Amino acid sequence: MIRQEQEAVMARYTIRIPRYASGEGGEPTVQDFTVEAQESWTVLDALNEIKWHQAGSLAYRRSCRHGICGSCAMTVNGVNRLTCETQLASLPELIVVEPLRGLPVIKDLVVDMGSLYEAMMLVQPYLVTRTTPPSDRERLQSPVNRAKLDGFYECILCASCTSSCPSFWADKEYLGPHACLWAWRFVADSRDDGAGDRLSVLDDKHGVWRCHTIYNCVEVCPKSLNPTSAISKLKRAIIKGKF
Ligand code: SF4
Ligand code: SF4
Ligand code: FES
Repeated sequence: MIRQEQEAVMARYTIRIPRYASGEGGEPTVQDFTVEAQESWTVLDALNEIKWHQAGSLAYRRSCRHGICGSCAMTVNGVNRLTCETQLASLPELIVVEPLRGLPVIKDLVVDMGSLYEAMMLVQPYLVTRTTPPSDRERLQSPVNRAKLDGFYECILCASCTSSCPSFWADKEYLGPHACLWAWRFVADSRDDGAGDRLSVLDDKHGVWRCHTIYNCVEVCPKSLNPTSAISKLKRAIIKGKF
């Protein structure tokens, strides 16, 4: 059995992690861990190996392991990625794993996502209807109108986009590409009546006008979504006064 496990080891990696002390701020202590990995391993598998066998106090978020929950986004060799979807085999032998940029670090690789959720709630990421009395039936939507939401509803809230946005780095009050994408997802929904409220919030120096179309958000989105396109559509809707 031991021999079989040894044969399954395909490569040795050094995983470099800045260890931030809990709640203390300040500079991290950088630690290197050696991981002997099998061919199929992801960066998250390597972090699990470290936590389970080398450093039990290592803190990071993860849940689904299948690119669905959005918990495991981190900066890997300078690029925001879902660690559960990033194969070690696609990376060099030295892998630097850091917390998402631009957000306060709680401990090690865990960041405080509170400001991102607050920004999202400002744009009302849910269907707003003003029909009175409220409909007692399902609100129907034509296939054509349903198709208009494609590319805008699949967000898993991993924060990779906003954390890679230079406009967000410069202005922490900027609502961010994640919130703008969610805003457009509902503004574009034929069943929704809340566009006016959302566009009023976004028509602000900390709203869509903060975006300078740099496209970092598009490059890093693990779901191949296009927040920049959503932002452009929101800008157009504001200019046209469609609310
Ligand atoms: S396109 Fe806009 S939202 Fe996306 S990274 Fe650039 S400035 Fe940020
Ligand atoms: S738009 Fe993409 S990168 Fe941004 S939070 Fe959603 S899934 Fe993550
Ligand atoms: S653990 Fe859920 S997306 Fe990676």
